[in-house]
Amino acid sequence: MMDVPNALIRELSLDFKAQFGRSPSLLVFAPGRINVIGEHIDYNDGYVCPAAIDKFMGFAIGPANGDLSLITALDLNEEFQFDANDTFHPEESHWTNYFKGVLSQFSTENIAPFQLCFKSTIPGGAGLSSSAALSCGFAYALNEWTKAGKSKKELALIGQRTEHLFAGVNCGLMDQFASVFGQKNHLLWMDCQDLSFSYVPADFESYTFLLIDSKVKHSLADSAYNQRRREVEKAKDKLKATFPEITSFRDVNVKQLEQVKAEIGETSFNRASFVIAEIQRVKDAMKSIENQRFEQLGSLLNETHHGLSALYEVSCIELDFLQAQSLTCAGVLGARMMGGGFGGCLLVLIHQDDVQSAITQLSKQYLAKFGIEPAAYPVKIGQGIQHMNWHEQV
Ligand code: GLA
Repeated sequence: MMDVPNALIRELSLDFKAQFGRSPSLLVFAPGRINVIGEHIDYNDGYVCPAAIDKFMGFAIGPANGDLSLITALDLNEEFQFDANDTFHPEESHWTNYFKGVLSQFSTENIAPFQLCFKSTIPGGAGLSSSAALSCGFAYALNEWTKAGKSKKELALIGQRTEHLFAGVNCGLMDQFASVFGQKNHLLWMDCQDLSFSYVPADFESYTFLLIDSKVKHSLADSAYNQRRREVEKAKDKLKATFPEITSFRDVNVKQLEQVKAEIGETSFNRASFVIAEIQRVKDAMKSIENQRFEQLGSLLNETHHGLSALYEVSCIELDFLQAQSLTCAGVLGARMMGGGFGGCLLVLIHQDDVQSAITQLSKQYLAKFGIEPAAYPVKIGQGIQHMNWHEQV
């Protein structure tokens, strides 16, 4: 049984039929994600704690009539026609890059011409990983289409390489793993060093997560992301050179970092300080979740926010404002900016009875301060990528 709204399944099938005059052979749904804690450490030897959510990038695919393949972006009303066995190169910031990046990694397969349309229910620019859902969802669809037999892990890696090589973002693997391996009502406890993971029940008793979308996405977010990586790698290289016993950020203590401060400079020092503290916070958060100590979890979320804002410097005034205000709302145990940063969503841990009043209060305050109406999404933890063949259709 698919964990995807029937309405979306029907809508996408009808869209395909309207575009291409027949029913699709296959439907694929790749979810967005939240991340409870462990931010900006998936590429820093850390642990992360994401989960798939009930918002999807949906793909419908079927055979093409001629030699060329065609992809229709339903939300943009744009098309991309190509020979699937061509060689692909990235273009400046274009949605087709995500498809080209994936196609280029299936270059050893013989790809039968296909028609595909896709649409999203994941709010774009909100830090909910719509781009990972796009690349991983398409990789999954192409894997089914070509019967290439790639593993889920390979598909996640294809998604990540697409970001690196075709979108210019040197991201970690958290988003792709969450989209591919997510499990309903579970968090993914992922070790980003060896890529192992386990599932932890997402049981927060009477508490729940709420997303407040700031509706801002400051430009330069991608280049700032890559710059953070460089700054933090500078610190790691120096630490490794100075202390041969250090192989990863997990081995570093604050005293060692202090010792290299003068050489790496204030900025890299701050970035690395955040990383070391965040690695510890994720471990503490997992214990809090296991022991159902949600006040403690809330405090850790607040600490993460302050670190991301003051030390890693990936927050923005809108998110800092929302975070501070959220703590004045009834029933809130903690909140933090989520994802890459520079805009997107605030993740709030809140008592389930207080969700509506917090939405009302924060919307009013945010509108008064920035003239922007935020969006609010109560979080439902869903299943990772799913597919259905047309004959199974409801
Ligand atoms: C983006 C990246 C992830 C991760 C987060 C920050 O979502 O794609 O790999 O680094 O930012 O935690």
